[in-house]
Amino acid sequence: NWTMGNIIEEQVAAIRERVGSKRAICGLSGGVDSAVAAALVQKAIGDQLTCVYVDHGLMRKGETEQVEKDFVAATGVQLKVVDASERFLDALAGVSDPEQKRKIIGREFIRVFEQAQAEIVAEADPGEPVEFLVQGTLYPDIVESGGGTGTANIKSHHNVGGLPEDLEFQLIEPLRQLFKDEVRMVGSELGLPDEIVQRQPFPGPGLGIRIVGEVTKERLDLLREADAIAREELTAAGLDRDIWQCPVVLLADVRSVGVQGDGRTYGHPIVLRPVSSEDAMTADWTRMPYDVLGRISTRITNEVNDVNRVVLDVTSKPPGTIEWE
Ligand code: XMP
Repeated sequence: NWTMGNIIEEQVAAIRERVGSKRAICGLSGGVDSAVAAALVQKAIGDQLTCVYVDHGLMRKGETEQVEKDFVAATGVQLKVVDASERFLDALAGVSDPEQKRKIIGREFIRVFEQAQAEIVAEADPGEPVEFLVQGTLYPDIVESGGGTGTANIKSHHNVGGLPEDLEFQLIEPLRQLFKDEVRMVGSELGLPDEIVQRQPFPGPGLGIRIVGEVTKERLDLLREADAIAREELTAAGLDRDIWQCPVVLLADVRSVGVQGDGRTYGHPIVLRPVSSEDAMTADWTRMPYDVLGRISTRITNEVNDVNRVVLDVTSKPPGTIEWE
């Protein structure tokens, strides 16, 4: 029978058998799928696995630490972290177009990852060559890309965590038969913390596509603060399971007049975009309790510099996509 314990045992045995005394690499994106895939392979082959985490500087507050500390603590995995935030900021300088941003982030991500990969391959003992690449592909990913049944999406959705197939490596895809809820159960069974296993969807290009306008360090820091406040209040209100995701967006090129403290301000608006959805193909705006919205608004305008207005997005998908870019 199909229990999570069985799936783990079966996969662990199969991976051990297949990898033998060779080595494997796995890219961690901060998301659920790559984390669970890595934890499973780690259980099977231990230190023969090296994980790579590319910090593109577009993650939310605490997310990189979650990978570096909590994930490593929970799994004991060997992790190589590449801090590439400056490189991504340089590449994104002057760019406002959403698709252009996605292309740049995707391209830089692959370059940085491939470089880290090459270093790991070069450092490996020749008797234990790196021959395998672990990917957190799920069953719906296979059906969607092969079957052509998914609704066409007008955004170029390369998931930054998922990398192009690399002929240099054989793929290990231990989650190929599973749906998302099963992956979460496997993750819990493997001892991963809820903050990782129950994580809501977050786009690969990260906060880079939640700043309408050019991406700069200052704007990222500002948005990170606003986003952290919104997440804190949503969690405190017990709404995490009711909301599919809640993008927090900075309208960096818009200013409006406000009055704060002793005087007039001319600051940026933050948009809250809470949505309810089954699969992100369609979504409805979430009817969130007014008091929670009020707390988020008060805190963001009090605590985040240069933000003097918080607005709520009440558009369903269609016509609006979940993300603003
Ligand atoms: P949209 O905005 O198209 O989003 O309604 C649907 C879902 O996809 C996520 N999303 C992305 N994920 N790379 C990703 O990995 C992307 O470029 C990207 N754009 C949107 C979005 O967060 C939502 O869950």
